[in-house]
Amino acid sequence: MKKVFIKTFGCQMNVYDSERMAGELSAAGYTLVPVEKEADFVVVNTCSVRAHAEDRAVSYIGAAVKNKKVIVAGCMAERMKDELIKKFPSLYAVVGTFNFSNITDILANPKPRLHLDRSGEHYTNNVKRGAGIRGSMTIMQGCDNFCAYCIVPYVRGRERSRDINGIIGELKDMAAGGFKEVLLLGQNVNSYLDSGTKTDFAGLLRRAASVDGIERIRFMTSHPKDLSDGLIDAISTVDKVCGHVHLPLQSGSDRILEKMRRNYTAAWYKSRVEKLRKSMPGISVTTDILVGFPGETQEDFMETVKVVEECRFDAAYIFKYSVRKGTLAEGFGDDVPDKEKLMRLNYVLELEKKIGEDITKSLMDKVQEVLFYGPAMKQSGMMEGTTRANRKVIMECGVGTAGSIKRVKITGASGAILIGENQE
Ligand code: SAH
Ligand code: SF4
Ligand code: F3S
Repeated sequence: MKKVFIKTFGCQMNVYDSERMAGELSAAGYTLVPVEKEADFVVVNTCSVRAHAEDRAVSYIGAAVKNKKVIVAGCMAERMKDELIKKFPSLYAVVGTFNFSNITDILANPKPRLHLDRSGEHYTNNVKRGAGIRGSMTIMQGCDNFCAYCIVPYVRGRERSRDINGIIGELKDMAAGGFKEVLLLGQNVNSYLDSGTKTDFAGLLRRAASVDGIERIRFMTSHPKDLSDGLIDAISTVDKVCGHVHLPLQSGSDRILEKMRRNYTAAWYKSRVEKLRKSMPGISVTTDILVGFPGETQEDFMETVKVVEECRFDAAYIFKYSVRKGTLAEGFGDDVPDKEKLMRLNYVLELEKKIGEDITKSLMDKVQEVLFYGPAMKQSGMMEGTTRANRKVIMECGVGTAGSIKRVKITGASGAILIGENQE
């Protein structure tokens, strides 16, 4: 039996794609091994979103290729194509983002080594998720927005939605396998549209909520320009849909937002957050922020700070701008010095830390509904779960709590992790 190790870089969609590859491979009789040294084949699922992500994968591949059959899959395969083979002549195969379901055929017969055809994308029932209570599932992928800085539309292709029956079928399989929570994934989940039934994302949320056994539904990422009142209504009225929206702001300066081609203004963004918070008290809003985009002045940056102060995000992921070849912004230069980018990043980080601490304080003594996933990673004897708003909670309770939803009083916190007490 051939042994395969899958190494995953990048976002949650990549994690899901690795689970698809693992599913195909184990259905075909391959053994998935937990460490690289036991493997005959090493599949490296890669990310191209920033130079740093690519550098990490390149050094990993460089080491692995010395004594393993290495397959480079995912976004870097799409971006670098045969450049990867030039760089690593002994690579076994290069597998693009439309070819994950063909991984078994490719391992059996890698020639020609470039698998970048975009015409035969399909999803099968073979998804091998780790045993657990929560799992994710891609419902749409690709992007038509072409934000000036972003490589994703090039490496993931145009926007396309999965067939709704396939999604619901897979969700039923998850429920049968003991999963209680699903995270629906897409570069722009709110653009979901089933071409056959014309079901939109709000409709999909309602269908997904009808699957028995699935108790919680999460989703990401939402694009601010497409966050309609109708969708906010669906989020706040479908009971199983959790109150958490990840809504990337990127910048608070209208001038920069326009150069980024984001198609909204800071005022529109704020109106969305306000509407979300009004429609669902306790809702969590998290965001992505990009600092040091070409031409971003100190004044532009302070506009971003202002929006962060006003929106009071439950969490923010802050990134330094990284030039991506072939994007529109490549032509804008990269004129914000790295030192300045780092200062801006740290400034928002500090600000968000304070906001996060205030939010944590406001949760003290409140009772939250927590779904427990299993033993806590670091604290022995504790179980770990999340609130509906996606805050991590640990609590002293039996292992049998995994998979159950409990009412928990928040009694303390350790950093961003809440500590709870059973109320039942
Ligand atoms: N589809 C999502 C996110 C895609 S990528 C959206 O529309 O927002 C995830 C995050 O990476 C982005 O939100 C952005 O903040 C960051 N990112 C994308 N391109 C980047 C680049 N060239 N340099 C630095 N960060 C980038
Ligand atoms: Fe990238 Fe913009 Fe598409 Fe998000 S919406 S994936 S940031 S191009
Ligand atoms: Fe995800 Fe990175 Fe690709 S963020 S979509 S793995 S470029």
